[in-house]
Amino acid sequence: MIKGRIAELLQNTQYLQEVEVQGWVRSFRSNRFVALNDGSTINNIQVVIDYENTPEEILKRINVGASVLFRGTLQESQGSGQQVEILATEIEILGDANPEEVKKTILSPKRHSLEKLREQAHLRVRTNTFGAIMRVRSRLAFAVHDYFQRNNFFYVNTPIITASDAEGAGEMFQVTSLDLENLPKTEDGKVDYSEDFFAKETNLTVSGQLEGETYAMGLGQIYTFGPTFRAENSNTTRHLAEFWMIEPEMAFCDLDRNMDIAEDFIKYVLRYILENCQDDLAFLEKRQQEEEKAKPEKERSAMSLTEKLRFVVDNNFKRVSYTEAIEILMNSKPNKKKKFKYVIEEWGADLQSEHERYLVEKHFKCPVILFDYPASIKAFYMRLNEDNKTVRAMDILFPGIGEIVGGSQREERLDVLQDKMTALGIDQKELWWYLDTRRFGTCVHSGFGLGFERLVLFSTGMSNIRDVIPYPRTPHNAEF
Ligand code: 4AD
Ligand code: MG
Repeated sequence: MIKGRIAELLQNTQYLQEVEVQGWVRSFRSNRFVALNDGSTINNIQVVIDYENTPEEILKRINVGASVLFRGTLQESQGSGQQVEILATEIEILGDANPEEVKKTILSPKRHSLEKLREQAHLRVRTNTFGAIMRVRSRLAFAVHDYFQRNNFFYVNTPIITASDAEGAGEMFQVTSLDLENLPKTEDGKVDYSEDFFAKETNLTVSGQLEGETYAMGLGQIYTFGPTFRAENSNTTRHLAEFWMIEPEMAFCDLDRNMDIAEDFIKYVLRYILENCQDDLAFLEKRQQEEEKAKPEKERSAMSLTEKLRFVVDNNFKRVSYTEAIEILMNSKPNKKKKFKYVIEEWGADLQSEHERYLVEKHFKCPVILFDYPASIKAFYMRLNEDNKTVRAMDILFPGIGEIVGGSQREERLDVLQDKMTALGIDQKELWWYLDTRRFGTCVHSGFGLGFERLVLFSTGMSNIRDVIPYPRTPHNAEF
């Protein structure tokens, strides 16, 4: 008896063997053909039932959504569309699903909008689309570890609860065990955090970078891959309040090598899914093509999903300095005609996603790495250039996504870093441990952060970041 998952059985051509499968019914037609799915693949296995010799009581319970065990013989399929099928000899209903109740859910076999699926996020993984997305997501996560482990990076788990604001942007969720209805106060009327669990103010991490840097200073090359949290009130299709970030950090590494590694890394993981997720990508590609049909002709993308992935894998990313990019943007049609929501007036302007997407989608038509940004619009830890006004920052911009990576060479000079922190009002006492890395054996070092959901978004051709994480956290939404 072969007991396997459907993905394995569908590959098996040792016909006439006894097999056992368990899964959820996707459809049941003519009282004879069951399409069974167990989540291992986008493809269902067909189970053929000898209905004349099956009790009516059992047949009635083979409903969409029910979990069923079948034993039977593996045989070459008579019908088209599949190579193998199972001729059932034994049927065990494991978990019923009442058809009247199922009808009210997204399990009912008809088209449901992505919005509707979001409302039933606990069930949506049983649909073809979400099964495919979540399998691709899992394979991508594996490829991330695979890339870094093969290249001699060590996986480091940085803290989730921390007292520091790594990005200095103040977008943190506070962590406290104080009774909010009855807060302890200091003499001058402020909340007395010495009474709190950690005896200081703490928050959920926005980035593991600062702790990551300290570990790169011992292990040489590290990466993190964990949840990060931002209390930014951005209700967009690209922002989550809780997202997963991959942050490599390399000692003895300058910005150029940082860009090389980031590009090589992204290409590696995309190549990995092109090779290992073919069925799911083929399904997602078809889904996207249908979605595209609903759009006006000129908004449709010229490339299919897998063409897009291949294009990224096969072509060099275009490296452009911020200064060059600003020139291009200031001379662009949408800027001159004031079509941008934020018109670029001068060097120093922060780039909005409309500008990033113009550069990538209209001007260069390929992934772009922008580098050497104005110091004034970037975080405190970035290496100041000799011009004293730009920093060694780099962002990778992707078609349809905008920023997918943010990184930099770090300021390794203690005095320059301290001056910068003073100027920005960042507490040096709080970050004494971070400054120690510059006191003891400081070195040129660099790293970047890649937003995992933005990578999954690009890889699956989905258009809303809420659809590439099991349970999205966004402003006013923490259901499930
Ligand atoms: O550009 P960010 O803010 O950079 C950092 O956090 C650095 N500490 C990284 C480093 O150098 N180690 O964020 C990095 C990436 C962005 O490029 C984006 O892909 C993603 O994280 N990201 C988000 N993804 C989803 N929702 C959000 N709210 C995100 N904010 C950033
Ligand atoms: Mg950024």
